[in-house]
Amino acid sequence: MITLDAVTKTYSAEVSIGPVSAEIARGGITALVGPNGAGKSTVLTMIGRLLGADEGTIEVGGHDIATTRSRTLATVLSILRQENHFVTRLTVRQLVGFGRFPHSRGRLTAEDERHIDAAIDFLDLADLQDRYLDQLSGGQRQRAYVAMVLAQDTEYVLLDEPLNNLDMQHAVQMMRQLRRAADELGRTVVVVLHDVNFAAHYADRILAMQDGQVVEHGAPREIMTDEVLTRVFHTEVQVVEGPHGPLAVYY
Ligand SMILES: Nc1ncnc2c1ncn2[C@@H]1O[C@H](COP(=O)(O)OP(=O)(O)OP(=O)(O)O)[C@@H](O)[C@H]1O
Ligand SMILES: [Mg+2]
Repeated sequence: MITLDAVTKTYSAEVSIGPVSAEIARGGITALVGPNGAGKSTVLTMIGRLLGADEGTIEVGGHDIATTRSRTLATVLSILRQENHFVTRLTVRQLVGFGRFPHSRGRLTAEDERHIDAAIDFLDLADLQDRYLDQLSGGQRQRAYVAMVLAQDTEYVLLDEPLNNLDMQHAVQMMRQLRRAADELGRTVVVVLHDVNFAAHYADRILAMQDGQVVEHGAPREIMTDEVLTRVFHTEVQVVEGPHGPLAVYY
């Protein structure tokens, strides 16, 4: 479980996130949704300790992230940021290998190589594994970063907009793989998504943020209503019953 207790981050006199209190259940997929600037990335990067909270406490799997050693934390959680992905003269396979660093400390063992192979297969990157990152399309690169995060083999996986740049086929594939990671590998996945239809279809729970606050947290059916979506996204949304569940329609 991930527990946030009265967590705040103040960027400036005008912009402050929180206090956020929430419990994100262990296992399954929790989708973090909300308008631009709502505070999704701020909350996710605080959970991943890439950004320090000003107040409050965050626990991940029973570890208080403020006091847990980095080496321990890196075996508990992995995180993909929304931006600042480094693009250097690295191959896909080398990048994915970085995900093993907390385990291997730089010397890859046979087990590390197995995890790298599995992550590469999981993201359908076998044919691209020897390509340099700067020789990939945006969507291919995005998949390589997700493979790196999965190779870290942590129980908690935090992903900020992993569907960025992905076409329909690869967006669906990515969500199915995250579903498999949750169902078959027992991972707890927290994922920031902009497409509420993807969130409703693939996630077990949806946590909606608005203006720095968590305003809704529940099963997809509870969030997928005209009233909730229209209020959260400040735009008129109609929810219709699709062939596989509720669908948000907005033009
Ligand atoms: N480093 C920073 N310095 C100052 N303000 C920041 C910084 N990072 C984010 N903010 C502000 O904090 C608020 C929340 O930003 P955040 O990136 O968490 O939103 P988000 O929900 O992830 O949005 P998006 O959907 O656009 O990614 C915004 O108003 C943003 O301008
Ligand atoms: Mg963001």
